[in-house]
Amino acid sequence: MKMKKLLFLAFSLIFCSNFSFTRSAKLDAKELKAMKEIWGKLGLLGKKEWDFNKDLCSDEGNWGLTVVCDCSFETNNTCRVTEIVIASQNISTAPPSEFTKLQYLQFLDLRHNYLRGTIPFEWATMRLRNISLMGNRLSGLFPKALTRMTTLLYLNIEGNRFSGPIPKEIANLKNLDMLDLSSNDFTGQLPAALAQLTNLTYLRICDNKFNGKIPNFISRWTRINILHVQGCSFEGPLPSSISALTQLNDLKISDLKGGASTFPSLQKMLGLKRLVLRNCLINGTIPNYFRNMKNLNAIDLSFNNLTGDIPSSFSEPEIVHIYLTKNNLTGPLPGWVVSSTKNLDVSYNYLTWDASGPKSCDQGQINNIHPCLRKDFPCTKSDGQKIYSLHINCGGREVNINNTMKYEADIKKKTGASTYYNGGNWAFSSTGNFLDGYDSSNVLILSNTSILNNIPTSHTELYTTARTAAISLTYYGLCLMNGNYTVRLHFSEIVFTQDHSFNSLGKRVFDVYVQGELKVKDFDIVKEAGGAGRAVIKSYRVDVKNNTLKIQLYWAGKGTTGIPVRGNYGPIISAISVDPMFHPI
Ligand SMILES: *[C@@H]1O[C@H](CO)[C@@H](O)[C@H](O)[C@H]1NC(C)=O
Ligand SMILES: *[C@@H]1O[C@H](CO)[C@@H](O)[C@H](O)[C@H]1NC(C)=O
Ligand SMILES: *[C@@H]1O[C@H](CO)[C@@H](O)[C@H](O)[C@H]1NC(C)=O
Ligand SMILES: *[C@@H]1O[C@H](CO)[C@@H](O)[C@H](O)[C@H]1NC(C)=O
Ligand SMILES: *[C@@H]1O[C@H](CO)[C@@H](O)[C@H](O)[C@H]1NC(C)=O
Ligand SMILES: *[C@@H]1O[C@H](CO)[C@@H](O)[C@H](O)[C@H]1NC(C)=O
Ligand SMILES: *[C@@H]1O[C@H](CO)[C@@H](O)[C@H](O)[C@H]1NC(C)=O
Ligand SMILES: *[C@@H]1O[C@H](CO)[C@@H](O)[C@H](O)[C@H]1NC(C)=O
Ligand SMILES: *[C@@H]1O[C@H](CO)[C@@H](O)[C@H](O)[C@H]1NC(C)=O
Ligand SMILES: *[C@@H]1O[C@H](CO)[C@@H](O)[C@H](O)[C@H]1NC(C)=O
Ligand SMILES: *[C@@H]1O[C@H](CO)[C@@H](O)[C@H](O)[C@H]1NC(C)=O
Repeated sequence: MKMKKLLFLAFSLIFCSNFSFTRSAKLDAKELKAMKEIWGKLGLLGKKEWDFNKDLCSDEGNWGLTVVCDCSFETNNTCRVTEIVIASQNISTAPPSEFTKLQYLQFLDLRHNYLRGTIPFEWATMRLRNISLMGNRLSGLFPKALTRMTTLLYLNIEGNRFSGPIPKEIANLKNLDMLDLSSNDFTGQLPAALAQLTNLTYLRICDNKFNGKIPNFISRWTRINILHVQGCSFEGPLPSSISALTQLNDLKISDLKGGASTFPSLQKMLGLKRLVLRNCLINGTIPNYFRNMKNLNAIDLSFNNLTGDIPSSFSEPEIVHIYLTKNNLTGPLPGWVVSSTKNLDVSYNYLTWDASGPKSCDQGQINNIHPCLRKDFPCTKSDGQKIYSLHINCGGREVNINNTMKYEADIKKKTGASTYYNGGNWAFSSTGNFLDGYDSSNVLILSNTSILNNIPTSHTELYTTARTAAISLTYYGLCLMNGNYTVRLHFSEIVFTQDHSFNSLGKRVFDVYVQGELKVKDFDIVKEAGGAGRAVIKSYRVDVKNNTLKIQLYWAGKGTTGIPVRGNYGPIISAISVDPMFHPI
C-alpha cells in the first residue's frame, strides 16, 4: 500500500518536472540580445520593473505584463516575441530600429510615452498587425515605413506631431480595420487613395488641418461603424454619399466652414448610437425618422441653422442626450420636452411655450435658457439695485483675494445640459456631455492635478479649480449698470502637466466670445501662458449697453481628446472679474 503511494508520488513528480520542462522553453538567444538592445535604446535597462535574469517568456520578473511569446518553435523548445506593450513609461528616446530584429513581432504598443523623432525606415520590413503610438511626440511626415506594413489591421498615431499630407501610399494598407490619425498637424485634402481602405470599420481623423471638402468617396467605407471628423477645417456641404454608410453606429462631424447643407439622409443607419453633426451649417428641417434607430442614445445638432419644430421621434426613451442649442427652431415646446428627464438643451432657438412651460431656470437637466434670462435680458431692477462689478471664482469656493476682493463661489455641480442662475447678478449655461469618456460621469468642475507655477500665493485659490463644459460654456453678468467695464478672464491649464510625461502632451483649444463677438480663435492656454499651471489673463474693454454681459467659451473640435484619459477636452475657465471703468454713483 505504502509502496504504491510512493510510486504514485514519484510518478507525479516526474510528470510534473516533465511538464515544467516543456513549459521552460526559452526565448531565442538572438531575440534576447535584440530585446536587451531595444531596452537599452529606450533607456529602460536597469529599471527594476524588468529583470533580464528571468526568462522573458515566463511570467516572472514582470515580463508577463510586457511581452507575449510564441513558444512553439523548434518542437516547443524555443520562444519568439510576438507582442510588446511598453505603455506609460515616459520613454523619451526615438523609436529604435532594433525592433526589426524581432521577426515574429505582431503587436506593438508604445502608447502614452514621450517618444520623439520619427519611425525609422527600417521598420518597413516588420510584419506588424497592430501598432499604437498614441500620445507621443513623434514628428515629421507620415512615416513611409508604416505604409509598407501591409499586414496592418490597426494603426493608431493619435496625439503626435506628424505633419504634411496623408500620402497616397496609404492605399497599401488594404487590410486596415482601424485607423486613428487624430490630433496631429496633417494638412491638405484627403487623398483619393483612402477610398481603397474598404475594410475600415473605425476611422478618426479629428483635430488636423485638412482642407477642402469631406470627399464623396467616403461611401466606399461600407463597413464603417465609427467615423469621427471633428475640428478638421473641412468645408461644407456634407457629402450626400454619407447615406451609404449604413453600418455606422457612431458618427461625429463638427465645425465645417463654407457651404451649407440640408440634413443628410441617415434613415438607413438603423444601428446608430451617437450622432454629432454640430456646427455643420445645416439648414432646413430635422427629419423625423429616428424612431427606427433603437440604439440611438445621443444626438447633437447644436450650432446649425435648423428650422421647423423638434421631431416627435426625439421623445423615444432610449435617446438620453439631445443638444439642439443655437438653431432656428420654432413652434411650441412639445409637452414631452417640458416633462423630460433627458439631458436636453433647446436654448438659443425661437421656441415658444405656454403657461405649462418652464418658468424658472432651475429645470434640472433641461437647458432652455430663455425662461430664466428672458428674451433680450431686460433688467427690471432700479438703478440703485444694479451692480457695477462682478467677480466669480469659476468652479471654486468663495475667496477673498488680499482680504479685499471677494470672488463669489461657483460650485454647483450641474450636469451636462444645464443652466444655473444664482438669483441675483450672474448665471451660466452649460452645453454638452463628455460622451466619449470611458465613464459617463461628467466632471464639470476640475481641480489642479499638479503644482501651480508663477502664480502669486494670494491668487492661487482662483486657479486651483476651473469650470469646464463639453461643448459650450456661457457666463452672464446680469443687471449691470450700463457703461464701460474691464472684463478679465483668468485661465490656467490645470489638467495637463508641465513635465516630461505623456500628461504634458495634452492640447486644449477653444474659442472665446465676449458679447457675441469672437475675441480669440483657437485659444491655447498653455501656449499663451508659457506652460501648464501658469496663469494667463485676457483683458477686454466691454461697453455694456443692455445691462447684460455675455462671455462664451466654445469647443470647436480642436485639441487632444484622449490625454490624459479619453474625454479630456473642452474649454476651461478659472475666474472672471468685471470692474467698472467709470465712477459708480
Ligand atoms: C507543443 O505544445 C502544444 C501545446 O502544449 C502541444 O499541443 C503540441 O503537441 C506540442 N508539440 C510538440 C511537437 O511537442
Ligand atoms: C513619468 O513621469 C511622471 C512625471 O514626472 C511621474 O509622475 C511618473 O511616475 C513617471 N512614470 C514612470 C513610469 O516613470
Ligand atoms: C488588433 O486590432 C484589432 C482591430 O483592428 C483588434 O480587434 C484586436 O483586438 C487588436 N489586437 C491586439 C492584441 O491589440
Ligand atoms: C477584409 O476583411 C475580410 C474579413 O473581415 C477579409 O476576408 C478580406 O480579405 C479583407 N479585405 C482586404 C482587402 O483586406
Ligand atoms: C445661418 O444662416 C445665415 C443666413 O443664411 C448665415 O449667415 C449663417 O452663417 C448661418 N449660420 C450657421 C451656423 O450655419
Ligand atoms: C440652405 O442653404 C442653401 C445654400 O446656402 C440654400 O441654397 C438653401 O435654400 C437653404 N435651404 C433652406 C431650407 O434654407
Ligand atoms: C431664423 O428665425 C428667425 C425668426 O423666425 C428669422 O427671422 C430668421 O430669418 C431665421 N434665420 C434663418 C437663417 O433661417
Ligand atoms: C439694447 O439697448 C439699445 C440702446 O440702449 C436699444 O436700442 C436696443 O433695442 C437694446 N437691445 C435689446 C436686444 O434689448
Ligand atoms: C493683491 O495684492 C497684490 C500685492 O499687493 C497685488 O499685486 C494684486 O493686484 C492684488 N490683487 C487684487 C485682486 O487686488
Ligand atoms: C494644486 O496647486 C496648489 C498650489 O500650487 C498645490 O499646493 C497643490 O499641491 C496642487 N494640487 C496637486 C494635486 O498637485
Ligand atoms: C464706452 O467707451 C466707448 C469707447 O471709448 C465710448 O464711445 C462710450 O461712450 C462709452 N460708454 C459709456 C456709457 O460711457
